[in-house]
Amino acid sequence: MRAAAGGVGGILILCLLSAAATLDFKYHHTEELEKYLRGVHAAHPSLTHLHSIGRSVEGRVQVPDMGTNETGLHLIELENPFVTPGDEEGAKMKDEAKEGRDLWVLVLGRFPTHHKIGIPEFKYVANMHGDETVGREILLHLIDFLVTSYGRDPVITRLLNNTRVHIMPTMNPDGFEATKVPDCYYTRGRYNRNGADLNRNFPDAFENNSANIQPETQAVMDWIKNETFVLSANLHGGALVASYTFDNGNPVTGSLKGYSRSPDDDVFIHLAKTYSSNHASMYKGTGCDNRQTFPGGITNGYSWYQLEGGMQDYNYVWGQCFEITLELSCCKYPPADQLEKFWRDNKVALIEYIKQVHLGVKGQVTDKNGNPIPDAIVEVKGRPHVCPYRTNEQGEYFLLLLPGTYVINATVPGFKSMLKTVEIPDNTGNFSALKQDFSFPEVSDKIRSRVASCPKTPLYQELTRASAAVKPTVHVLVLMTVTLVIFK
Ligand SMILES: *[C@@H]1O[C@H](CO)[C@@H](O)[C@H](O)[C@H]1NC(C)=O
Ligand SMILES: *[C@@H]1O[C@H](CO)[C@@H](O)[C@H](O)[C@H]1NC(C)=O
Ligand SMILES: *[C@@H]1O[C@H](CO)[C@@H](O)[C@H](O)[C@H]1NC(C)=O
Ligand SMILES: *[C@@H]1O[C@H](CO)[C@@H](O)[C@H](O)[C@H]1NC(C)=O
Ligand SMILES: *[C@@H]1O[C@H](CO)[C@@H](O)[C@H](O)[C@H]1NC(C)=O
Ligand SMILES: *[C@@H]1O[C@H](CO)[C@@H](O)[C@H](O)[C@H]1NC(C)=O
Ligand SMILES: [Zn+2]
Repeated sequence: MRAAAGGVGGILILCLLSAAATLDFKYHHTEELEKYLRGVHAAHPSLTHLHSIGRSVEGRVQVPDMGTNETGLHLIELENPFVTPGDEEGAKMKDEAKEGRDLWVLVLGRFPTHHKIGIPEFKYVANMHGDETVGREILLHLIDFLVTSYGRDPVITRLLNNTRVHIMPTMNPDGFEATKVPDCYYTRGRYNRNGADLNRNFPDAFENNSANIQPETQAVMDWIKNETFVLSANLHGGALVASYTFDNGNPVTGSLKGYSRSPDDDVFIHLAKTYSSNHASMYKGTGCDNRQTFPGGITNGYSWYQLEGGMQDYNYVWGQCFEITLELSCCKYPPADQLEKFWRDNKVALIEYIKQVHLGVKGQVTDKNGNPIPDAIVEVKGRPHVCPYRTNEQGEYFLLLLPGTYVINATVPGFKSMLKTVEIPDNTGNFSALKQDFSFPEVSDKIRSRVASCPKTPLYQELTRASAAVKPTVHVLVLMTVTLVIFK
């Protein structure tokens, strides 16, 4: 190993490597988490990229609380075991806290710093409910596993050579810090510092969401806009099931029958099953108690219970990204000595799920001179998205589809749509979706000017002209009263 060559740099690298190698099974609070991520990046600079996509609320606002005359800033000081008031480190922390906590993302891949044509973008987001903590820790172990396996394990090497994997261990760092000790049940740490439930905070495709968009939510929305994410999962706790879109619904999606079906329902079922069937016990579907069972360990989000403003529906409708919600533990914040088992139970599922980003078909839409055409609509005949999926700046599209025969329809304003029949093989093991490019005769700059982006108003309502969203059935309502704020 190069580190053995000696010198201060070598010793430093060796230290960093060993720091990364000794990731403990314990909870990592803000500074430890940052230290770990920085250490991984320093030890694997060409395989990883570390950046913050924004900042949390804590310390930005003056929040009187708990009988002190102080602001939220003071609260952090009290809550933070690393800060001894008055010391230098403490003063630095205070300054940082003023602007909130960083929302860290570690990107892994052969080209970690930027998108490459043909390489799909994948993401995992955990801990958006601050008191649901298993995902936060197992994503750190996933990072550890990926960086230590790259170059040794041929599957992981191919996976990272052909996929850009974004990992966000916590979307709600303030909520996590507010949840001081392990607790299996709901706590205030679920919410961000402003008391908002981040998984009710996104624009909703079915009804107007009046919630104020929080800084954490806005950061994720900007991030989704910046990257061509194709597949994603969002990690929770309090149940054991893989839940898929839609979480909300109205008559267009057939939600009257207690199921809110997306045009890609078959793909979502496959994605959820990929996770549950590769998990140590989720596939059994026994859930957490006898009251609630999930056949195959999966459920349609709406069938479980309806919710508005969820992140997975937002990803699918506005982000062109298929996202599912993974409930990984019956206990929301289990004792640290159970973390190793949680990692073992989820390890294979986490990897197999990433591979699914290579389902279906991908390609580029260009003009006859090979210039990419952004914002071309590329959809599969028979499964239109309410906000049509469009090509990115490089003219690329990615469509997740199960093996079969499909007609792909590429549309550029001013031209006749181009239709191509494709036969999609099962090629996830190949780490590449089927490739199908489209070439249009000639496209003037006028046409290439950006098309208006999708409106943020409820889209499915516009389709139906139905008056109001259909109320959930009585049975769902009963369930809702029990579970509304407990899980997803
Ligand atoms: C709050 O401020 C008042 C006046 O400044 C002071 O008398 C009181 O002791 C303070 N209370 C606490 C809990 O710090
Ligand atoms: C992965 O990419 C690296 C860097 O280009 C290359 O050396 C290596 O052969 C690739 N490995 C596999 C298994 O594709
Ligand atoms: C949603 O809000 C928009 C803008 O305020 C409004 O035009 C629309 O009628 C609302 N739709 C519903 C269903 O409330
Ligand atoms: C999005 O991209 C812009 C331009 O590259 C960058 O300035 C910004 O920080 C990015 N935001 C996020 C959330 O990734
Ligand atoms: C192809 O897509 C365009 C744009 O969405 C649509 O107007 C057209 O009807 C589609 N063509 C077919 C044959 O489905
Ligand atoms: C895998 O990729 C290779 C090279 O691109 C191709 O020849 C082969 O047919 C692919 N196999 C499958 C199952 O897609
Ligand atoms: Zn949750």
